Amino acid sequence: MNLRIDWNETYSIGIPELDAQHQLLFNIANSIPETVDEKKARTCIVRLFKYAREHFTAEEDEMRRVGYPKLDEHIRIHDALISNLSDVAMAPLDTEEANIAFKKFALHWIVDHIMIRDKDIARHIAQQR
Ligand SMILES: [Fe+2]
Repeated sequence: MNLRIDWNETYSIGIPELDAQHQLLFNIANSIPETVDEKKARTCIVRLFKYAREHFTAEEDEMRRVGYPKLDEHIRIHDALISNLSDVAMAPLDTEEANIAFKKFALHWIVDHIMIRDKDIARHIAQQR
């Protein structure tokens, strides 16, 4: 199947540090195996947790810095994303279908969040200028 979504300028929110972190999240999601490879899949889950947490903290700091008015709502969404990931991480990854479903989930999780929520931060910053 070879699911992958490469980062491109469409996904940029105009903040280089956060864009770089988003690229790393894309890379991790792209590396999720589509065949049964429990060890590799678990490594991807651990990396997603680690880098998503670090990234969310950096993003929340940036939102505070620019006085983003929907900070609390955005933090709640980040928390919900981590809890979605926890649910997925609990499920067995012992079939090809389960791996593909996990990979689709991770890619959509990242893309939807950037395009809907993070782009709103960029809009706020642009309005401040
Ligand atoms: Fe975010």
